[in-house]
Amino acid sequence: MKHFEEKYEKSVKIAEGTYGVVYVGKITETEQPIVIKKVKYYNNRDWTYEDAIQEVVFLKTLGDHENIVKMYDNYVDASTQNIYLVFEFVSLTLKQYMNKYTIERAKTKNFMKQILQGLEYCHSKMIMHRDLKPENILVSKDGTVKICDFGLSKEAGEKKKHTTEVCTMWYRPIEALLGCAYYTYSLDIWSAGCIFAEMLRIGIPIFPGDSEIDQIYMIFRTFGTPDEDEWPGVTSLPDYKKHFPKWPKIISEKLLKTNKETNGLLLKMLVCNPAHRITASESLDHEYFSCDNN
Ligand SMILES: Nc1ncnc2c1ncn2[C@@H]1O[C@H](COP(=O)(O)OP(=O)(O)O)[C@@H](O)[C@H]1O
Ligand SMILES: [Mg+2]
Repeated sequence: MKHFEEKYEKSVKIAEGTYGVVYVGKITETEQPIVIKKVKYYNNRDWTYEDAIQEVVFLKTLGDHENIVKMYDNYVDASTQNIYLVFEFVSLTLKQYMNKYTIERAKTKNFMKQILQGLEYCHSKMIMHRDLKPENILVSKDGTVKICDFGLSKEAGEKKKHTTEVCTMWYRPIEALLGCAYYTYSLDIWSAGCIFAEMLRIGIPIFPGDSEIDQIYMIFRTFGTPDEDEWPGVTSLPDYKKHFPKWPKIISEKLLKTNKETNGLLLKMLVCNPAHRITASESLDHEYFSCDNN
């Protein structure tokens, strides 16, 4: 620990979550700004040491991509088992960026491309992020977008059962809201679609539910209540209720006031049936990115 404390200086606390505290600081020798995330070690039923070190493992696997935050160092305090992660300092989160600036359509396209590139890379390494939201996306001074916070990430697998308590509610995909434990990479695409919509709406979230049922109904009202034809098995999901109102299918071509290419991609990301949702690499080939329309 001593070595670690000599090497890095913590200054201001910038965030505190369930599992950790985040500080800005610097590398003592070079004065280079850094961020130190301390992940507190709890041992309970839902959170094990393995979960805690997963974040380090994933960051090591993903560290060489432009659109993933760089981890410079990590350290486990042997006495407390707290984990310290040292990152490059990135000036703003996407959330702060949207609060500070009126995000333009050209910028949205640029940011979306970088988010999807980062996501495509995670998925190519079999990693689901599981908590994509504007607070977990960083924007550097030169406009580079970096996905951060792999604290909830998991390795995907065909037959793997996962917790559905995943993603912050506004960005949680409909399959997780309906209790489906066998989700896969398409889970992140839903969250990315919500972020895309939020940028297009100049910082206004698309599905800001105030409870799980409100969240589900907001989605159903927008896209129609899914049925067995469009999503085989949906009515057997653990939290699907027979008494759900049956909102009609809406032809959502005009989901947002924007052009056909933009809406086209957005609607492919926000498909209720996860099997029909576009993938990250297919999204990058979508005409939205090759057309001149913003
Ligand atoms: N590399 C970084 N540069 C600048 N700010 C960061 C960095 N990493 C995290 N933060 C800030 O700290 C917050 C919490 O970090 P995060 O990794 O998301 O932890 P938590 O698991 O607590 O959400 C982020 O939302 C962001 O505001
Ligand atoms: Mg976070």
